[in-house]
Amino acid sequence: MELIDYIESRREAHLDELKELLRIPSVSAKSEHKSDIEKAAKWVADKLRLAGLENVEITPTKMHPLVYGESLRATGKPTVLFYGHYDVQPAEPLDLWTSPAFEPTVRDGNLFGRGTADDKGQVHIHIKALESLRHTQGKLPMNVKVMIEGEEEVGSVSLWDFVRRNRQRLQADALVVSDTSMLAKGVPSITYGLRGLNYYQIEITGPAQDLHSGVFGGAVPNPITILGEMISKLHDRNFRVSVPDFYDDAAVVSRQERKALNSLPWKEKEFRKTVGAPGLCGEKGFSIVEQLWVRPTLELNGIWGGYTGEGAKTVIPSKAYAKLSTRLVPNQDPAKIAKLVERHIRKLLPKLVTAKFEVLSTGKPWVAPYSHPIFQKAIHALEAGFGKKAVFIREGGSIPFVTQMHDTFKVPCVLLGFGLPDENAHAPDEHIALENYYGGIKSVALFYEQLATL
Ligand code: BES
Ligand code: MN
Ligand code: MN
Repeated sequence: MELIDYIESRREAHLDELKELLRIPSVSAKSEHKSDIEKAAKWVADKLRLAGLENVEITPTKMHPLVYGESLRATGKPTVLFYGHYDVQPAEPLDLWTSPAFEPTVRDGNLFGRGTADDKGQVHIHIKALESLRHTQGKLPMNVKVMIEGEEEVGSVSLWDFVRRNRQRLQADALVVSDTSMLAKGVPSITYGLRGLNYYQIEITGPAQDLHSGVFGGAVPNPITILGEMISKLHDRNFRVSVPDFYDDAAVVSRQERKALNSLPWKEKEFRKTVGAPGLCGEKGFSIVEQLWVRPTLELNGIWGGYTGEGAKTVIPSKAYAKLSTRLVPNQDPAKIAKLVERHIRKLLPKLVTAKFEVLSTGKPWVAPYSHPIFQKAIHALEAGFGKKAVFIREGGSIPFVTQMHDTFKVPCVLLGFGLPDENAHAPDEHIALENYYGGIKSVALFYEQLATL
């Protein structure tokens, strides 16, 4: 049977198999899911073996196991390293899901469940593409190394160590990743830039302990008020980050690239609908696409302190907290930015409180040229698989590992994304469009097939 006919004939079987993986709640952030993480790693390893990969191993790490497999029998042909993750974000708040997070369900042409788009569905696309090639051709037309990790959603803590220890073994002609999005439905996309990410937590302490707000209120510092005042000063009127020197190193995007990015078939109306807020705000002087993809930002991810339970409790809390992050663009150094942010925050705080500032994780931005011939193969494969024109985009999300790989191996990184920006990754009702899941399998199979002639 021909490759595409075979993939078509397996539609139901593929979907049923993906649902098996989606039923395993492999939440990397929570220790209670340790055994689910192991179950998911084993599931992935088994499917890699069934797809014909050899030397499949589950490597334990300090945190969650890493799955590796390879097929290196196409002598003289190129080798790609495919990277993805089998861990998922926590599903909470559970009551906001239309169908339960770990009971995958099809509605209106979409498959719903935690991990459908980020990233189990996209990992499965590659496993099935490889399996289809092997089934219809007897062997793989190119060489492939597959590395699927279980800690991406908590910052890929162990991955770097693994790469350093297995440098030789991971060497490839290109890195292939499917953990990003398409620009829009019907617009297959290759991502050539991602923002970096620094994540911080601050703890502000005023009184040595919680105080009765009637007995003490009026004469003592309230850490929540002070935190709020500080936060309100982190952006100026034009929504620029007020941290001094924050923008100094940010790469200026050429007029030509700005023009290319701003002429993509990106629809502001769709974006507004997805956001669902009464209005939008962003750094003055840049288009929305630029604000999202090529400009650095600072955002508050969470803020808490004092009494937040049911009913009223009169208290002046001892402490207040915030989680914040900065998305970074090329040429910004994460370590330098962390210092600038800490210094600015400390300067904004009055001597009435003390502050603890922690950097929870850092990750470098990434952008790379797409002139290597492998990108033409990818464009053709996407156009054949989707029957639609493919485009090159940048994105605002972060995959720190892509930068690390690019820096280490200096090879092209091909990011083929099959999610969509409105598919609720990290949120309730995460889903993947079945048309993109199936189009993905076809495109990736054709891409791998065409690598034989690279
Ligand atoms: N798959 C995403 C990254 C992504 C999303 C890239 C959308 C491009 C478009 C990944 O799983 C993720 O969520 N990354 C985190 C950072 C990570 C260090 C936890 C992010 O971007 O917030
Ligand atoms: Mn992901
Ligand atoms: Mn994610």
